[in-house]
Amino acid sequence: MHAQPQHMDTRVLHDAVKPDPETGATTPTIVQSTAFAYETAESLEAVFSGREPGYVYSRIANPTVTQFERRITALEAAQGALACASGMAAISATALALAGTGDEIIAGNSLFGGTHSLFSRTLSRYGIVTRFVQATDANAYRKAITDRTRLIFVESIGNPKLDVPDLAAIAGVAHEHGVVFAVDNTLATPVLLRPKTIGANLVIHSTSKFINGHGHAIGGIIVDCGTFDWSSPRYAHLHPLHKRIGNLAFLSYLRSQVVRDLGCCLSPFNAFLMMIGVDTLAIRMERHCANAGQVAQFLAGHPRVDRVRYPGRPDHPDQALAQRQFGGRYGAVLTLELADRTSCFRFINGLKRARNLANIGEVRTLVIHPASTFCREMSVEDRAAVGVSDNLVRLSIGIEHPDDIISDLEQSLAMI
Ligand SMILES: Cc1ncc(COP(=O)(O)O)c(C=O)c1O
Repeated sequence: MHAQPQHMDTRVLHDAVKPDPETGATTPTIVQSTAFAYETAESLEAVFSGREPGYVYSRIANPTVTQFERRITALEAAQGALACASGMAAISATALALAGTGDEIIAGNSLFGGTHSLFSRTLSRYGIVTRFVQATDANAYRKAITDRTRLIFVESIGNPKLDVPDLAAIAGVAHEHGVVFAVDNTLATPVLLRPKTIGANLVIHSTSKFINGHGHAIGGIIVDCGTFDWSSPRYAHLHPLHKRIGNLAFLSYLRSQVVRDLGCCLSPFNAFLMMIGVDTLAIRMERHCANAGQVAQFLAGHPRVDRVRYPGRPDHPDQALAQRQFGGRYGAVLTLELADRTSCFRFINGLKRARNLANIGEVRTLVIHPASTFCREMSVEDRAAVGVSDNLVRLSIGIEHPDDIISDLEQSLAMI
């Protein structure tokens, strides 16, 4: 028998989870306090200066948020994590902690629209240039590396393109050049993949999706796998910290400089909701994936559906890689193509249970028309790169009974 649980179903419930030492409470205690009081000026000074451990102000750290960070750190077998107000906050803070004016990011070109906008519009205004490359072409990342590259960023399953980059190959390129490799693992979650095992240095989740799972809180997290040497010459701004505290330099800089200054902290109540979500993450993902596979098969055989994209389908270009990388599970998100935009709108309007909203990863089945919603600001070329056309619908398959999900889709397809 292993002393440590080996299975995610057990680990999500027990890793870094203990009853409250003071009260015995078995659910996470919500420490809803802005600041933390100390008896003497000397003791507060000691905590402020970092000589003593302790909490000061919840914009920097909070005990409930720490509990959530420890749970994700344990699931990712990482050295530490920092939770943020949203997935976008986590990505922004990561980019700003690594790159400054004149520096470059290399990103797969099939990113979530918000991340694409951050890299292509917002960061470029501050002189941080992003080179977008074909997400699934490991060589393209190699060709794009320059002396100014500070970050390689990909999604483990592109949203909504659903392409699957070869993370181990891209990690190899990043390591060859001493560049940080960050994986947005939102769609796969630690249940399908722990990116550390294939060479990622940082893992980012929008915890608003599957980790929360119930659509009741926005959040994000940055995980430092502990696999990058922060004394690397590309990150000179981290060297003084590295000299003092070794490989915790990045997390420390992120917390005590970037997140402190941006103020993009996670609230204790949202950390509580995230932890309740983590409890059932493994079993939900199992059901999400099983249901999505059945739905993809149903849709692929439907005469009104022109095309289905799901990494688990035999006709998906990255299916073999996805099978290897995610151990035979492919997530909850899939897309379908209908005749035209009018058919998509009719299909969405005809659904009785699936909810038409801008999210993925909730327990209920969700649907959206990307071109008219979260991709509407993109140019036609950028939309094509992220795999979004006017006749495309995205589904996030929930954990309802699969027959009920399929019957809802079927009745609506019959009406278009
Ligand atoms: C893959 C991915 N990363 C990041 C984000 C941004 O997360 P948030 O909405 O929590 O800011 C999203 C949101 O949809 C996403 O799908």
